[in-house]
Amino acid sequence: MKVISGKFFYNDEIKEIDVGIEEGKIVEIKKHIVTEERYEFPEGVIIPSMVDMHVHFREPGYTWKEDFESGSLSALHGGVTFYIDMPNTNPPTNSLENFILKYNLAKSKSYVDFGIAYLLDNKVEKNIEDIVTSFKIYMSETTNVKPLNPLIIPEITKDITKNITVHAEWPECIKKYEENSLNDHDKNRPETCEIKAVRFLVNNVDGKIHIAHVSSPDSVDIALAKKFTTEVTPHHLFLNKNMQLGAFGKVNPPLRSEHVSGMLLEYLSSGIIDVVASDHSPHSPEEKENFNLAPSGLPGVETSMPLLLMEMKRGNISLNRLVKVVSENPGKLLNIKKGKIELGYDADFVIFHLSSEKRIKAKNLHYKCGWTPFENMDAIFPDYVFIRGEMAIKKGEEIINPGYGKYYPENEFLK
Ligand code: DOR
Ligand code: ZN
Repeated sequence: MKVISGKFFYNDEIKEIDVGIEEGKIVEIKKHIVTEERYEFPEGVIIPSMVDMHVHFREPGYTWKEDFESGSLSALHGGVTFYIDMPNTNPPTNSLENFILKYNLAKSKSYVDFGIAYLLDNKVEKNIEDIVTSFKIYMSETTNVKPLNPLIIPEITKDITKNITVHAEWPECIKKYEENSLNDHDKNRPETCEIKAVRFLVNNVDGKIHIAHVSSPDSVDIALAKKFTTEVTPHHLFLNKNMQLGAFGKVNPPLRSEHVSGMLLEYLSSGIIDVVASDHSPHSPEEKENFNLAPSGLPGVETSMPLLLMEMKRGNISLNRLVKVVSENPGKLLNIKKGKIELGYDADFVIFHLSSEKRIKAKNLHYKCGWTPFENMDAIFPDYVFIRGEMAIKKGEEIINPGYGKYYPENEFLK
């Protein structure tokens, strides 16, 4: 049996324990396990790696911005060992054929484990639900997607039991005035558009809905009325519209005020917001040149967990909450055995040192787009990452190959 020994964050406290692994899964958790294959980590803290419910790796169709290889390598360096790729690719993930096309690309190229979200803009057959990892609804027009008529949402979500993630901005509320600044972008797509969309869902949809990238504490309050779960991005927590980011801060829903981002962080650390996801959505620097024409979206998969670890070091979020929102809750929502140090779960861990604080520099990240809106912010990157018991990052360097990643959920049809 392979054993990893060290200071695990287990059952809400840091404990010196041995974790036994067989076939990539945790099979034993004890004070001491006798074995020949031991990996000892006397320094650093071991926590579950991140389950990122929301990334856009741009393949197929937009591979000058990112692809499964570069995106998943970035994920790995940021402590993410499972991600869900969003369906607004070309072709979009809205048919079995297009799903299989994306599945084959990701399977051959991904360093880390993955799931695929299916574009829900119509009723889907049960055989589709069996295969896909989750569903995504876009209520408004955004990068590369046309909106649906929100009135059909109750009907198309009725029989689905897997996770349904919704981009909630009310289409008719969005204005199209010329924009030259983040402030203009916020005025065109104000918080009220999100609030209106979430209110519609609360009033009309019975099933469980997961609201993507909330940008307003008010929409979280409304979502709670139906026990919808909510997700926030690091850019809505740590960036705001008054920063001098130009189009490199243009994103949907838009960055808000510093006051709002502070409230979102409070909601996250106090247990009201459930999940942090990166919404990694890179565009090339050339595409971001002209503010008004620039597509919305910014990269973030490699910096999400590192920024949160730094925030934990500052005392603004507990390690307990961090593990819940980054790993355990998304694992639970997706119904996969990841994101928790528990018997039967995948042995996916990161090992970090509180003292290994670094400035974020785009040149040290692995994105194809070559930039980050978090340039020069402090962060704590993992020194080691394990996926299914296999060491994947050793002292900050990757030691696995593309194609290691495995699709979830396992499915006979895809074998
Ligand atoms: O800003 C955004 N960019 N919001 C989205 O909903 C899509 C994303 C993208 O794909 O670029
Ligand atoms: Zn997105």
